[in-house]
Amino acid sequence: MTSVVIVGGQWGDEGKGKIVDYYASKADTVIRYSGGNNAGHTVVTGKRIFKFHLMPSGAVAGKRVLIGNGVVIDPEVLLGEIEMLQSMGLNPDLGISERAHIILPLHKLSDSAEEKIKGKWKAGTTKRGIGPCYSDKAARFGIRVIDLLNEEVLKEKLDMLFVLKERQITKVFNEPFEITKEEIFKKYTEHAEKLKKYVTDVSVEANSTIDKHKHVLFEGAQGTMLDLDHGLYPFGTSSNVTSGAACTGTGVSPKKIDEIVGVVKAYTSRVGEGPVPTELLDETGEQIRKKGMEFGTTTGRPRRVGWLDMVTVNYACRVNGLTGLAITKLDILGGLNKIKICTAYNYKGKMITEQPADVNVYAHCKPIYEEVPGWKDMSIEEWIALAKKGYDALPKEIKSYTARISEISKTPVYLISVGQDRDATINLKDLFG
Ligand code: GDP
Ligand code: IMO
Ligand code: MG
Repeated sequence: MTSVVIVGGQWGDEGKGKIVDYYASKADTVIRYSGGNNAGHTVVTGKRIFKFHLMPSGAVAGKRVLIGNGVVIDPEVLLGEIEMLQSMGLNPDLGISERAHIILPLHKLSDSAEEKIKGKWKAGTTKRGIGPCYSDKAARFGIRVIDLLNEEVLKEKLDMLFVLKERQITKVFNEPFEITKEEIFKKYTEHAEKLKKYVTDVSVEANSTIDKHKHVLFEGAQGTMLDLDHGLYPFGTSSNVTSGAACTGTGVSPKKIDEIVGVVKAYTSRVGEGPVPTELLDETGEQIRKKGMEFGTTTGRPRRVGWLDMVTVNYACRVNGLTGLAITKLDILGGLNKIKICTAYNYKGKMITEQPADVNVYAHCKPIYEEVPGWKDMSIEEWIALAKKGYDALPKEIKSYTARISEISKTPVYLISVGQDRDATINLKDLFG
């Protein structure tokens, strides 16, 4: 048996959906453990493209999929994804934790209002109500899946929260508030009716699956730099997304985790506010954004792109305890003469190799680069054909680029991805035997 955590090694959108789908073919269960529908995970199989926000990516491979207690659930979004899969002939074998918290329309109103107040400190959130839902969870105002199934409790909790939010949004934030408690109650009891058959104790199921020597994948959302504690505060998200959250977000002991795979894009991308030391604001950046289709899966916003930052990747190796790397989107850099790798920062004449906690220091960090030769551009079909031949067929420059990443990060490369499709993947380590 093997339990594998898949975690974002940078700023999110590294290709976690693709990697989870790839490994899912050999797994028994896939569990989402953090975040909410701020996430957007893409799975491509031949001509079919799936974009998931809450549904674990293992649904495409037809595996048992679970949503852990660490996730915040917008019921409407989840129901939409279930329907979308059903309309495509896939009936997800889904289980939802009783302990997961529920996003209400009130949280979305707060999200937008809070961002306005924050001015230059705003994170550029997805406006999906994620932060306010996690805030209410921490303040113990939250409504959990189990509460949704009990009309009396739901009403009581909604009564309490509604008064507070109405006052806050109209009187503190000075924003309009046109929603009624009755509307929310009606809508959410309808959602509960549709969702109740999926509700389960995820911790009990996950542990018993592991104890039966089956293979479990833990699907991370966001990326290390967006983690509430270890990310670039306050420009990240409102939950822990790093590997420890796979345990707290599902109710599985760290003793039961065997491998932690960090998904690392061959360059940097970031959607949202705050400094990004290796950001490319030139023609090369524009070229990578277009070719890599770097537009948010959730909001459609153009992603900021830059060279690969190994200070970030090394940091991700440390805080997650990565046992291996899955390097994605190497095909997108094809056709570039020279490629840069940031190995350290220059902060006011001083060399920095560790991620600074102070965002003002980070904003003044200038990347120190080493330059490596690029590789040729190829069509999607050529990349797939090459991936089918395996590692030895790769251009020598890709081999040395990935070897260099492994050397700098002192972490082995488990998987190389050269295209969106499942088939554009080279597996270097058989995780599930
Ligand atoms: P996630 O949030 O980490 O799951 O990543 P997203 O799905 O938001 O964004 C990654 C995008 O890159 C998706 O469109 C993927 O289909 C795509 N992708 C993943 N791996 C590769 C790759 O190796 N090459 C190319 N060209 N696209 C990839
Ligand atoms: P996946 O799982 C990229 C970013 C937002 C914003 C900050 C806070 O697809 O990799 P939030 O709505 O969470 O309060 O926004 O975090 N963000 C992501 N960026 N990929 C994601 O998820 C993200 N989830 C949140 O852009 O800067
Ligand atoms: Mg994404």
